[in-house]
Amino acid sequence: MPPAPEDPPAEAPARPDPTYAANPAVAPVGDRHPAGTAPPPTLGSGPAPAGTPSSASEFLDSLLQTKSELFRGSKEVLRDSYIPSRLPHREQQVRQVAEILAPALRGDIPSNLLIYGKIGTGKTAVVAQVRQEILRRTELASHISFVSLNCGNIDTPYSLLQTIGNTFARHEAERIPTGWSLDRVQGGMRRLMDTKGGTIILVLDEIDRLVARSGDSVLYTLSQINTELETARMVLVGISNDLKFTNQLDARVRSRLNEEKILFPPYDAVQLQDILRERAREAFKEGVVDPGVVERCAAYAALENGDARRALALLRLAAEMAERDHAKRITPDHVVKAKNRLEQDIIVECCRTLPPHCKVLLYAILQSYERRRNGVLTGEVYESYKRLAERLGLQPLHARSISNYVSELESLGLIRATIVSRGRGGRTREIIVDVPISETMPALEEDPLIAPVGRPKPRGQTLLTNFDNPGRTGPF
Ligand SMILES: Nc1ncnc2c1ncn2[C@@H]1O[C@H](COP(=O)(O)OP(=O)(O)OP(=O)(O)O)[C@@H](O)[C@H]1O
Ligand SMILES: [Mg+2]
Repeated sequence: MPPAPEDPPAEAPARPDPTYAANPAVAPVGDRHPAGTAPPPTLGSGPAPAGTPSSASEFLDSLLQTKSELFRGSKEVLRDSYIPSRLPHREQQVRQVAEILAPALRGDIPSNLLIYGKIGTGKTAVVAQVRQEILRRTELASHISFVSLNCGNIDTPYSLLQTIGNTFARHEAERIPTGWSLDRVQGGMRRLMDTKGGTIILVLDEIDRLVARSGDSVLYTLSQINTELETARMVLVGISNDLKFTNQLDARVRSRLNEEKILFPPYDAVQLQDILRERAREAFKEGVVDPGVVERCAAYAALENGDARRALALLRLAAEMAERDHAKRITPDHVVKAKNRLEQDIIVECCRTLPPHCKVLLYAILQSYERRRNGVLTGEVYESYKRLAERLGLQPLHARSISNYVSELESLGLIRATIVSRGRGGRTREIIVDVPISETMPALEEDPLIAPVGRPKPRGQTLLTNFDNPGRTGPF
């Protein structure tokens, strides 16, 4: 993670869009709290005034009755699962993918395709859109089947082949059961594919994770399956955000997969603005998005490698914050709050998923760093870790394992470790914490593993201590 900037990043040049400017000429959006009715309760806002819902059921009913002032309809429009009808700045990639897969509509077999690009660059969305368009041409596409799988959710080559085969099972008895040998599963999958026949377009999203986890043997099987199929033909579309992943592949697999490849470049801030504006137009009522909101979301996400997912998440969260404030418009301040919140969620999630000893180590580092307010040396950190582990009843790991964990925490962006020379004493590493201590410590202390050695919680303290402090800066 980059060092915490003092201010929000410089915003990319704004493209004026009157639709989203706060426009005084636009009739005020209906009053959320008409005269004589009390506002819906705010969480944590003290005792509810008379007349406001007091039970969970009344509270939920009142929420459901309250029509959103900001959203046109469903918030789904801003979620990942939604496939927008237009994908600005991906027209060229949509055309390329369509051109490569279009031969299937004419009954020919398309080339295999590999798509590369960093996270949130629209790879999945582009393929999903082309798939939708191909399948919409029902007359021409009746012999085409798509199987789209995310390899991140598939543990082994066995379950991959089983899942592909079972997609074509028409009833329970045809399904490939668990327990067969790998060879038998392969045979079962081929039979099921042949029963279906036609052109099968197999989209393996996050294919690099499959290879990292279990090597390339399953890709070898899949890439030469057409020699064994009788009536069906298969095309492989691999999607990866590791640009170098094909280096790990056997030369034959590499050349079969690489018949066509497309690179998705990251979005810049101005392109992200266009993407957000298009979505905002679909998601929000007119005039509710203040100037600067889209620009700020885009600027923050551009710093995060041009990730459109991050940009959309910021916009959605900013809108939800505005709703919670009962605001009639989304303002740049809501974006700052959303950014802080998102950052915090990421840190909390990151801490939550660390292995136990790594959590204890991180807590030891935070404690030492908080005391010293300065870099701490690895030897000192190791001693604190050992003491903490013993207090928690854990057998401390050796210094070498802890040194590996220091590197892991560094690669996660939670700390920075620099080599320092200590004269005759040799070299050691000095650790600097790269996340806000005031939020990371409570996040760890929420963990049942760390809780017994955590600081006592002041009454009413919650994890989101800086939630309403837009001035807080962090490593976003
Ligand atoms: N050009 C675009 N126009 C509109 N929305 C977009 C565009 N590009 C990406 N998005 C949206 O951004 C989010 C992330 O896109 P997508 O899932 O396609 O990224 P990805 O490249 O597959 O990322 P990852 O490598 O993390 O899987 C989705 O909600 C998607 O709809
Ligand atoms: Mg994806």
